[in-house]
Amino acid sequence: MVTNIKKLDENSIQEAKSLLLSGEVVAIPTETVYGLGAIGTNPKAVQKIFEVKGRPSDNPLIAHVHKDYDIEKLVFVEHDYVYKLIKAFTPGPLTLVMKSKNIVCKEAVCGGETLAVRIPEHKGCQQLLKAVDEPIVAPSANLSKHTSPVTAEHVYSDLNGKISLILDGGKCQGGIESTVLDVTSNVPRILRAGLVTKEMVESVCGACLIAEHKDGDKVKSPGVKYKHYKPNCQTVMYSPSEIQAVLDRYDQELRSGKKPYIMCSDEYAQVFNGKNLLLLGSSGKEIASNLYSKLLEGEKLADIIIAISFDREDAEFLGIMNRLRKSCG
Ligand code: TXA
Ligand code: MG
Repeated sequence: MVTNIKKLDENSIQEAKSLLLSGEVVAIPTETVYGLGAIGTNPKAVQKIFEVKGRPSDNPLIAHVHKDYDIEKLVFVEHDYVYKLIKAFTPGPLTLVMKSKNIVCKEAVCGGETLAVRIPEHKGCQQLLKAVDEPIVAPSANLSKHTSPVTAEHVYSDLNGKISLILDGGKCQGGIESTVLDVTSNVPRILRAGLVTKEMVESVCGACLIAEHKDGDKVKSPGVKYKHYKPNCQTVMYSPSEIQAVLDRYDQELRSGKKPYIMCSDEYAQVFNGKNLLLLGSSGKEIASNLYSKLLEGEKLADIIIAISFDREDAEFLGIMNRLRKSCG
C-alpha cells in the first residue's frame, strides 16, 4: 500500500472522511501526539487499528469528538464535577473515562464497561471531527511500544506501507499524550498523567487522586502496564546529582566507538558544552513539547541517549518523568 502524507486542508479532510466512513484507518494530528483513527462504531475498522499498530488486544482506545458533539450520546455523566472539567479544560488534552452507552463498539473498549472520551483542541482535527460527526477512536499513531509521533514524518517512518493517508497538521504542540482521568467516582483519579495536571483538576474539583499502578494490581488503565515510548536505540537515565557520572559515561561510550548524545534541559547546555546534545528547553511545557521529537531525533543520530532526569514530579513534570522512565526502560 502506498502511504500518502497530505497537508490538512478542505480537500484532504474530505478524502480522510470518505476513507474513514468506508472503514479505513487514517493518521490524524491532535495537539498532543498524532493518532491512528477509525470510526468508533465500526468493529472491522477498529480491528484494523490493532492490526496496524500491533497493539495488545486488551488495551482500549480513546474516542475523539468535536466540541459541539453531545458526549452524553456515548457515555453516562454520573457526577456534576464532570461538567466543570469539560468547561474548564476542553477542547484540550484531557481524556475522561465514563460508563459507556455502548454506541462505540465493544472492540474499541476491549469489552470493558467504560469509554474514554476526548475533545481535542487541534484546529484541523476539530474540522475533521466536525465533518465526520462520528466518534473517531484513535491510539497514538506509532507501532506498539515505540515513541509516540509528533510529526507526520514520524508517523510515516513507523506506518509507511500500512495505511494509505496521513493528514499533516504540523508538529503537535503539547508533545505528550492527554491526561487520562477516571471520573466514574466521587473524586476524579488520574490514570495517566499529562498536561492537564493534578493541580489543575484540583482547582476545579477540589480534589484529585493519582492512581497507583503496582505489579500484580488489576490495572484500571491497561496501557500503563505496557512497555512504551522506547526509541530504537539504547537509552539510559541519570539523575541531576550524577553529572560527573554522565560525563564519565559519555567518554566511556566514545572510547568504545559509540556515538553518545546527552538529552537534558537547557540549563545544562554550558556544563556539556562541545558534546552531542539533545536540548529539551526550560519550562515544563517546553520540555513536554520536545520530549518525543528529541527522542526520535536521537534514535537516528545516536547509538546511546544519555538522559538527565528531573528532580521534581509536580505539574507537567509528573507526565514527563512517567514517559522518560519508560523510554529509558
Ligand atoms: O493524547 C492522547 O491521548 C493520544 C491522542 C491521539 O489523542 N492518544 C493516546 O492513545 O495516547 P493511546 O491509545 O496511545 O493511549 C490511551 C490510554 C491507554 O493508557 C489506555 O489504556 C487508556 O488510555 N484508556 C483508554 N480507554 C480506557 C478506559 N475505558 N479505561 C481506562 N483507561 C483507558
Ligand atoms: Mg500510545
